[in-house]
Amino acid sequence: MQGPREEAPFSHTGPLPVLFQYRGDERQAPEREDRMQEKYVVEKSTLEGTVRASGAKNSALKLMAAALMGGGPSTIHNVPDIADVRTMLELLDYMGFSTSFAGGTVTVGPAVNPKTEAPYYLVQRMRASVDVLGALSARFGRARVAMPGGCNIGARQIDLHLKGLAQMGADLQVSHGYVEVESNGLTGSHIYLEFASVGATENLLMAACMAKGPSVLENVAKEPEIADLAVFLNEMGARIEGIGSSTLSVDGMSELSGAEHSVMGDRIEAGTYLIAGAATGGAVKVEGVDPSTLEMLSMKMLEAGCEIESGEEGGGWMRASSNGRPAGIEISTLPYPGFATDLQPQMLALLSIGEGTSFITENIFDNRFMVVDELNRLGTDITTKGHHAIVRGVEALSSAPVTSTDLRAGAALCIAGMLADGATEVYEIQHVDRGYERFEEKLSSLGAKIRREPVGA
Ligand code: UD1
Repeated sequence: MQGPREEAPFSHTGPLPVLFQYRGDERQAPEREDRMQEKYVVEKSTLEGTVRASGAKNSALKLMAAALMGGGPSTIHNVPDIADVRTMLELLDYMGFSTSFAGGTVTVGPAVNPKTEAPYYLVQRMRASVDVLGALSARFGRARVAMPGGCNIGARQIDLHLKGLAQMGADLQVSHGYVEVESNGLTGSHIYLEFASVGATENLLMAACMAKGPSVLENVAKEPEIADLAVFLNEMGARIEGIGSSTLSVDGMSELSGAEHSVMGDRIEAGTYLIAGAATGGAVKVEGVDPSTLEMLSMKMLEAGCEIESGEEGGGWMRASSNGRPAGIEISTLPYPGFATDLQPQMLALLSIGEGTSFITENIFDNRFMVVDELNRLGTDITTKGHHAIVRGVEALSSAPVTSTDLRAGAALCIAGMLADGATEVYEIQHVDRGYERFEEKLSSLGAKIRREPVGA
């Protein structure tokens, strides 16, 4: 489909039929600036109905990075139309790979002599840009990738990525804010991760797929998006065993082909709508998500007194409802299958109107409680000490202007806005656009009173 949105790929209204080849930054900068000038206006709502989960952001981005290792083109379906996907397309385009994006399908064609560099302005915009490091190093023997700095949810280092690549024989230099990798071909290795980092697991897995000889990666992260990536890599001709477990065995291949794959449903997006449904005292069903990927969320919502149903039909579905204030519970975020840090801020919003007191421990990111000051502007009673938060439930919230501090914080503030009397304005919603496809449209279809307005309107 073609239409005016081709000329305005960051436009947010209506469905997103997009078909274009990326032309680099010239079309990105002004549009991003425009989007920083928008806010959500959210009013008290009760959510009822059914919504479909988009493809998972955290899988789609990695599949797109992996596709650059293929000797032929790859086709990736069910890709969400979100700003981070557009940034990854821009990065692939910058490096010389041909890309297209239409109707939720991304294609990535091979490049003969690519520019093997992820520049600072793209890494700074999206940390997942560092996911090309392993793929470039293994496929082309060289990479130059900007070091990610601190970001809103904490200093996020890549030391484990670099240690693993060095163990595979890469010659690494960090200077002038970039990591530079040179190698005459990586060699398979036995790598034990000291922490089950999602990004390090993915980078090292991609590298191992094209390293010489076998690799064993131990204590790796087990997030379902990593399994989706591993399946895609095997479809490209890689030989990975142990998918879904904490030990991955890989036989390195000298060549990989392109492949066709459909991205798994986004469990974090699905969880966001389920929490929103229960928080507003309504009932929301999310289709297109595997309920086994949200077991810990189900368990915690049940503990809080919400009702949860799920089934396998049509790729999986879940339904959450509640008709009373939630009970106080304890949550500790942990690597999968522990409670997802990406759902912690949304749970803060739900538990803020609880009948009891909840205790939340954040174990993954340093600054994930930055959202608390904003929530408290809406009348929540949350105090933090280090990586612990005490949420004393209050009866009602009241509207205020608030600012998204990161992607999931933005979603949490919109949920809280739907619990508050009056009109809550949520600023800096470019964070939300990074990871939620048609956020206000999907919420509105459930009956939410949410609209996007220019700042200053
Ligand atoms: C990914 C997800 C993010 C999710 C997170 C944890 C994507 C694009 N992002 O982020 O949504 O919240 O997993 O589930 O998939 N760390 C180090 N050294 C390293 C690597 C990580 O110290 O080499 C630290 C980080 O600073 C952070 C923690 O480990 O505090 C978790 O990082 P990691 O698991 O790597 O998460 P990401 O891949 O960045």
